[in-house]
Amino acid sequence: MTTRDAPDAALAAQYEAFPYPARDPREEAKRLIVGSPSHLREIDHWVFGARRPAATPLRALMAGGGSGDGTIMLAQQMTRLGRPGQVTWLDRSAAAKRVAMARAEARGLTNLAFEEGSLLDLPRSGLGPFDYIDCCGVLHHLPDPAEGLAALVSVLAPGGGMGIMVYAPHGRTGVYMLQDALRLLAPPDQSPQARVEIARRLWKQTPDTAWLKKNPWIDDHLKGGDAGLYDLLLNPRDVAFTIPQLAHLVAGAGLRIETLVEPLRYDPDSYLTDPKLRALTAGLDPVQRAALAEATCGNMGIHIAYLTRAEAPPPPRPWGDDAAVPVLREIDGPLLAKNLRADGVLTVTFDDLRVPVPLPRLAGTILAKVDGVRSWGEIMAMVAAGGASAEQAARDRIALSAAMERMNRLLLAAPAV
Ligand SMILES: C[S@@+](CC[C@H](N)C(=O)[O-])C[C@H]1O[C@@H](n2cnc3c(N)ncnc32)[C@H](O)[C@@H]1O
Repeated sequence: MTTRDAPDAALAAQYEAFPYPARDPREEAKRLIVGSPSHLREIDHWVFGARRPAATPLRALMAGGGSGDGTIMLAQQMTRLGRPGQVTWLDRSAAAKRVAMARAEARGLTNLAFEEGSLLDLPRSGLGPFDYIDCCGVLHHLPDPAEGLAALVSVLAPGGGMGIMVYAPHGRTGVYMLQDALRLLAPPDQSPQARVEIARRLWKQTPDTAWLKKNPWIDDHLKGGDAGLYDLLLNPRDVAFTIPQLAHLVAGAGLRIETLVEPLRYDPDSYLTDPKLRALTAGLDPVQRAALAEATCGNMGIHIAYLTRAEAPPPPRPWGDDAAVPVLREIDGPLLAKNLRADGVLTVTFDDLRVPVPLPRLAGTILAKVDGVRSWGEIMAMVAAGGASAEQAARDRIALSAAMERMNRLLLAAPAV
């Protein structure tokens, strides 16, 4: 196995001892874990702008796929929707591969390939090209994240894109202090099992003054088993990225941030209503606005971003196209419509940040008809048949789309052809 330096070798040993995240393949019979990045609906929308036909095979790479959460989700979603293509899992950990393969087998998935190796070797691997590359929770562990991202770009097909997740500093407040403490008590040359035991003993006696004890957004050490505890507090290398640092990393690889997930969280105007502050935020560029949101909220422990090649035109996301099919992500349209408040304000919560989102008057009427199959044209005709004026329906469709795309909840489906 390729490792670069002592922390990298220790990292490889960690994920052999504790494949991450801890998963039991028997659980596949009960639930599918879904999330970002790499939800098929998000890839269709954010990476391909809802213009890449569903019938075009998707070649996806899950770089540092671990025990398979993203891999299984994407392969299962493609299978359910009858979407052609293949999801290639790649990781250095043989132990993680066994778990991911067992999960795939439990589901009877046949659109997967498994490759054991380092993503840093991708340029010489003969693998690819890939239309979509997932790299979730991996770049920040590498000796050189920029080299890692460049290795991924080397196997990215023209017109392709990526979904990445990296740690963010403020929401992880307290983590790095405990990591410092544990480097003293359980140095990396000890066995992973011995280090876990010391970490558990220390956590029991850590005073309530410790920032991690006060941090409500981090719970891997409490709920993630030994793998979660180790990953959080004993990791040989993890570097958190602020938004400007992430933007620098992405630009250095010749990529562009298509969106941060969820866009609403990264827009300071979501919660700054003071007109004087609004006038100031209006003068900021998108990266500065996101940086302001990060620094103001203080609750972001990760950043999830969809990336495309900087030189390619931005994906279209044709909200105004009557042939486009809107799709709600993990939301039942009629149910949401039924439960909308009378004042039309939907309150969404992200790690305790509550954001009120005003929806237009016809939001409920429109949402009740969004089923992921009907086109906007069909939905608008139904709304008009119900008595609404066509102009009002068209205006409210645009306002609803803008509001709910920002939540990453209303997206556009891949066209059939
Ligand atoms: C925190 S886990 C993330 C797993 C998965 N992506 C997820 O989000 O659930 C990090 C993974 O990256 C893998 N990894 C670290 N360095 C790697 C490298 N150079 N090449 C391939 N995989 C690597 C580890 O083996 C581990 O499985």
